[in-house]
Amino acid sequence: MLGFRRNAQGAACLGRSTVRELLASAGTSTPAYLYDLDAIRKTAEDLETALGPEPHLAAYAMKANSAGTILRTLRAAGLGADVVSGGELALALASGFSADQILMSGVAKSDAELDQAIGAGIFAIQVESVEEIERVAARARALGRRARVSIRVNPDVAIDSHEKISTGHKYAKFGVPLADMPRAFASIDREPELLAGVGISVHIGSMMTKPEPYQRAARCVAELARARRESSTTLEYVDFGGGIGIDYGGAPAEPLAAFARAARQVMRELGVADLKLVMEPGRSLVGPHGILAANVIGTKQTATGRFLLLDAGMNDLVRPAMYGANHRVEPADWEPGPGDWRVVGPVCESSDDFGTHAIGERAPELVVIRDAGAYAFTMASEYNARPLPAELFVSDGQIVSVSASPGVTSWVERRLKA
Ligand SMILES: Cc1ncc(COP(=O)(O)O)c(C=O)c1O
Repeated sequence: MLGFRRNAQGAACLGRSTVRELLASAGTSTPAYLYDLDAIRKTAEDLETALGPEPHLAAYAMKANSAGTILRTLRAAGLGADVVSGGELALALASGFSADQILMSGVAKSDAELDQAIGAGIFAIQVESVEEIERVAARARALGRRARVSIRVNPDVAIDSHEKISTGHKYAKFGVPLADMPRAFASIDREPELLAGVGISVHIGSMMTKPEPYQRAARCVAELARARRESSTTLEYVDFGGGIGIDYGGAPAEPLAAFARAARQVMRELGVADLKLVMEPGRSLVGPHGILAANVIGTKQTATGRFLLLDAGMNDLVRPAMYGANHRVEPADWEPGPGDWRVVGPVCESSDDFGTHAIGERAPELVVIRDAGAYAFTMASEYNARPLPAELFVSDGQIVSVSASPGVTSWVERRLKA
């Protein structure tokens, strides 16, 4: 029994325990995130199986969820890590990922972050401009090291998702435009003592529900790699990025493993199957396997409708306010049914609104906000002096680890010192 489900009585469960039982056994107040580690492990194992015995690195984009328990689970399943800051790099290393399993992405890495990455000897720094190649060479010279770099190409491939999570079109800040790739290769080749050009990467955005746009971007990378091999002896890998979508309840999404198989197919078609295949999935590994549990503080009736007032707000889960995302909100103790409520949080912003959901005629005491395993806790803030929520990690129906909420006292102490 993996992931979110309903038991015979209709109660919301994670694996074989109800959400109520899990909250009670942890003795945690709400709001609280709960994650099913077994479901996360199974998704990672399916990905590894789909990638097969050929050389590969599935580098988990840890910005999606950087909880140590989850990082250790994914590392144990054979995954690497894709980091986007010095903080994430330090956490990845401390979580046991070896340097040669770590990629660093990001459009604006500081000198200190580049030094940290070069010093640790990570698998590759993914550069996003010709200017950055020159900066990496300068830092490698200063450190007396040779840096491994990959160029992230911007293939100008648009995807059908929210504009804020589409990154591979020509107006985006990300990647080296296709037309500038020869110049980027040339600047790597000018510094053979300082730079090893080991990869070509792409990441066109998030929430792709079918592999076609992924394959289009992959073809662009594979073609570049095929041509690049004529003149380079250092090229080791192609990286097709992340961006695999999940079903938030509105539209089905193909599984991560299907994208892995599609990636292999592109490599075979374009004659680069002997290179290492790198992917950077984030959301698809963890998103469906987390929920946010919230208590209902009260109800409110107005001329326009009825509100369900939660103790979880946009500071805990910002995706609805930030992207207009729809996360299903459901009663914890019974199946959702006829009886709409507009579900809102306590934060003093109109955008603190989780939308209208079929809850049932009676107001529940406890609700679950579904598919909250990715870009949820990692985007949480303390806005309105609201402490970060607790996180509970579940395996085989038991809580195996708890990260308690820091509580409001620590916020007061820190702000007093500011
Ligand atoms: C460079 C890069 N790789 C991978 C990812 C992971 O994307 P997703 O969580 O959609 O798989 C992101 C997400 O923003 C990213 O920026």
